[in-house]
Amino acid sequence: MNPTNKRTLINKSDLQNRIKSLAQEINQEYESVESLTIISVLKGSVFFMTDLAKELKMDTEIGFLFFSSYLGNTSPQTSVKVFDLPLPNLQNRHILLVEDIFDTGKSLQKAIELCLSKQPASVKTCVLLAKDNSKGQAEVFIDYVGFHIANEFVVGYGLDYREKFRNLPYIAVLEE
Ligand code: IMP
Ligand code: MG
Repeated sequence: MNPTNKRTLINKSDLQNRIKSLAQEINQEYESVESLTIISVLKGSVFFMTDLAKELKMDTEIGFLFFSSYLGNTSPQTSVKVFDLPLPNLQNRHILLVEDIFDTGKSLQKAIELCLSKQPASVKTCVLLAKDNSKGQAEVFIDYVGFHIANEFVVGYGLDYREKFRNLPYIAVLEE
């Protein structure tokens, strides 16, 4: 892999437009809910979560989970490492879990289990990108998906290759 060769997959305005329409869907579905707890999985989902949260109409609280499943490579590790961070009170709260990408689904599955163990009122999931053809995917229901993409390694808008490229305002494929 030559990390300098990037091909734009989703440009900045398509990203921002889709995030606005996702937020509209979420606003409609949570119309009768007074407040929502957004749980953002660090570090990748931060850019997406902040843009999404700015479009939401209900009161929100924000919390973070810190997972790591890639240790500087482009293929996932077999287990998800969880780093301890204080969480807001999740009991009887409506939770929206926000992730950057659904690849094997292991990290989303872990995040759902963790949230469910806190007796919330509900848990829904929102991912910016879903790789539809990834092998051995966990059986996880995703309520909101920004874009379905092919099984390629992508960077930008929070997603990294060895901690680089997170600050790109668009999504790119790193090419061989
Ligand atoms: P999972 O395999 O669905 O558990 O994904 C775990 C994590 O791996 C995601 O939250 C991302 O942080 C990272 N990841 C998965 N696919 C990619 C990719 O194509 N580029 C960069 N990071 C990725
Ligand atoms: Mg992640």
